[in-house]
Amino acid sequence: MADPAHSDPFSRSGGRGVLSSPMEICWQFDYALDIEQLQSLYSKAKRNQWDAEQQLDWSQEIDPSRPIVDEERFGFDNIPFIQKLDARRREAFTANVSAYRLSQFLHGEQGALMTAAALTHAVPDHAGKLYAATQTMDEARHVEVFEKYVRKLAKVYPMSPGLKKLIDNTLTADSWVKIAIGMNMVVEGLALGAFHNMRRQTTCPLLRQLVELVLRDEARHVAFGNVYVSKAISGMHPDEREDVAQFAFDAIHAMMANTGGPRGSGKRLPDPGFRLALEEADIDPHDFALGMKQAHAEGIRPDQEPDAIHAYQDLMMPALVRVGAVTERSRKLYEEADIPVYADTRVLESLEAADSGEPDLA
Ligand SMILES: [Fe+2]
Ligand SMILES: [Fe+2]
Repeated sequence: MADPAHSDPFSRSGGRGVLSSPMEICWQFDYALDIEQLQSLYSKAKRNQWDAEQQLDWSQEIDPSRPIVDEERFGFDNIPFIQKLDARRREAFTANVSAYRLSQFLHGEQGALMTAAALTHAVPDHAGKLYAATQTMDEARHVEVFEKYVRKLAKVYPMSPGLKKLIDNTLTADSWVKIAIGMNMVVEGLALGAFHNMRRQTTCPLLRQLVELVLRDEARHVAFGNVYVSKAISGMHPDEREDVAQFAFDAIHAMMANTGGPRGSGKRLPDPGFRLALEEADIDPHDFALGMKQAHAEGIRPDQEPDAIHAYQDLMMPALVRVGAVTERSRKLYEEADIPVYADTRVLESLEAADSGEPDLA
């Protein structure tokens, strides 16, 4: 008999939540498109709109019990605990952890949809509002495609409490600059890295094509954060800049506490959704945590593929440094918290450049 909790994959995803926002909403009666780079991002966004229903082949069948990623590229095949699993549990682990990650993409995209709408309210410039409206539409499309894909996997896992807290703090921030830092740099840095790695790992043509389309949009979103936040921070009073730098530090610090360090120390129990994914694969979460801890003690880390992107090192921190959201004072906070400040923007710039052409849907 079918388990009623599994008849609708969304039945256990966590209901709804309500937040209050102290953010100021800004009318702008000067309709001049006077920020050239924003105007160009807005034009590019209009040109590169795509329709998931028309442009992706949703008839492709997916067997939810089989992995949708290449196990050797998934980042766990060097962990002794995983290597010792029998073939059935290992396959179930890969399938369920992929579904868990895709569920996080889906929930994160809903957060992005709401933050982009909030930016449309709050940014002071006409070009900024038009651009933010296109990002809102982009994020709606991302929610749509991940919802459709996750439904095919027949499983949706609850949102990670750490990701939820990060997005909640961003949504309830008191200024648009903080919202753009929390979303367009920290959360979208995390997403850009995760999507990029998923595109390389997946063996499912539909997922690869879908993620490629999403990545093009996300590259534009990260570029918006850079263009617009740089401009705003450079015009700020030093006290206001420190307030923004503190917000950026708090967001990074909270994210680190959630993931266990820049590359994950494996020293904590997985979050409730991940635990459910492990249980679906018949793996005891305590045994998993112990296995990860032992691997960490032996110097073995997940995600060590040479071409993998490290969201924190390659995207988030360089983006924050580039816009001026790391000050001399906040640099000391990073040092005290043992969080390295990376400033090499090469990977970030190469991903931003990925949005330079029209979507390739061949
Ligand atoms: Fe998105
Ligand atoms: Fe985005």
